Amino acid sequence: MKTVMVNELNDSYCGESIQMKGWVYNTRSIGKIWFLIFRDGTGLIQGVIVKNEASEETFGLESKLNQEDSIIIEGIIRKENRSIGGFEIGIKNIEVVNHVIEEYPISPKEHGTDFLMSNRHLWIRSKRQNAIMRIRHQVSKSIRDFFDSNGFVLIDSPIFTANAVEGTTSLFEVDYFERSAFLTQSGQLYQEASASAFGKSYCFGPCFRAEKSKTRRHLTEFWMVEPEIAYCDINENMAWAEKLLIYIINNVLKNKESELKTLDRDINKLKLCTSSFPRISYTECIKILNDSGNQIKWGDDFGSPEETYIAEKFDKPVIVYGFPSEIKAFYMKRDPENDKVVLGMDILAPEGYGEIVGGSERETNLDILLERIKNEKLNQSDYEWFLDLRRFGSVQHSGFGMGLERVVAWICGLSHIRETIPFARTMTRLNP
Ligand code: 4AD
Ligand code: MG
Repeated sequence: MKTVMVNELNDSYCGESIQMKGWVYNTRSIGKIWFLIFRDGTGLIQGVIVKNEASEETFGLESKLNQEDSIIIEGIIRKENRSIGGFEIGIKNIEVVNHVIEEYPISPKEHGTDFLMSNRHLWIRSKRQNAIMRIRHQVSKSIRDFFDSNGFVLIDSPIFTANAVEGTTSLFEVDYFERSAFLTQSGQLYQEASASAFGKSYCFGPCFRAEKSKTRRHLTEFWMVEPEIAYCDINENMAWAEKLLIYIINNVLKNKESELKTLDRDINKLKLCTSSFPRISYTECIKILNDSGNQIKWGDDFGSPEETYIAEKFDKPVIVYGFPSEIKAFYMKRDPENDKVVLGMDILAPEGYGEIVGGSERETNLDILLERIKNEKLNQSDYEWFLDLRRFGSVQHSGFGMGLERVVAWICGLSHIRETIPFARTMTRLNP
């Protein structure tokens, strides 16, 4: 007998006898007939068990089955528009592969988030979490497809490194034989080497930040995609980031409609984000904030309230550029027309999701870089290889980093980033 997955069902299976392998989601009885909600990881289907149509043993299972028992079911598929997924299976036989050894801890009733996070290894079986992970998969795939089809070469950056990229306060230090190493905060510096070697390159992997912040936007381990492009200025860099985000949104809208529906996502808000994004300077942002009564001064970094206020002025992502050099990383190129600002950009997502992309044109002037490395109290000898990139074949180049989880949180409309990654790592959570 043919084994079919829930998401493979189509009209051609109607009337066919098939087998499905999975787990009990729920059961419900109305006397001579009982219903089984069955899940197999790809979706849910309702099974109907009717006395005299199913074997006696199978019919008698109603009172014996528990949520998450492992089962193999056999029966005939029929169309049922009122049922989840549009199909139903008239069950003839149920084989119990395994009974749970005690009551499954996650019942359909409401649970607190901390409890659910502690049971994340089981929670990912639930319908909403399944939808989120499938959207995450789609976003990852779209990221890879985008760069692979636009001439970028995948060059993986290392995880162990000697270099701080984004300041020294959020480094995870690890024992590395007789010395210490850091878990990478960003693969960027290695992509700068790769861009000179391949023209256009990207890396896409885990990054680590020992951020002592318990916000709904921060993880200590997250995934970042980082393209780097030789002979590219800040404007072209913004255009690449915009093109990437539009590509991702279009693909999620096209391929993950039912998952977005499961999450009750307002897809009209996403549809608004599929054409070019507004661009606004940091200085204009300060003016808008001051006009609204916010006391922020030129030179201050945005916190989440400032980001949210600016983003709410638009119904699509907004690109903010021209930040003060003092608040940005050492590698960002100073604006040749005003050295108080750098040629950097952030993209802020709408609906209060904050920064999803950070990038810049890179400093190519060796003396300025040396001075900035010194000012940031970084160890110059660890950066000699990076400085070589300015000594040998230095060109104008740019790149950016996009945080996968921030993008998934926004696309899914989630209130907290912890549900966007299979097993979240935060200040207080290392388990499961
Ligand atoms: O703005 P960031 O720190 O930029 C960089 O790391 C650059 N070196 C990237 C580059 O130019 N190649 O981080 C980039 C993005 C942020 O916009 C955000 O989406 C994400 O990475 N991010 C985090 N996501 C989750 N948790 C955290 N703690 C994050 N920190 C940054
Ligand atoms: Mg940033």
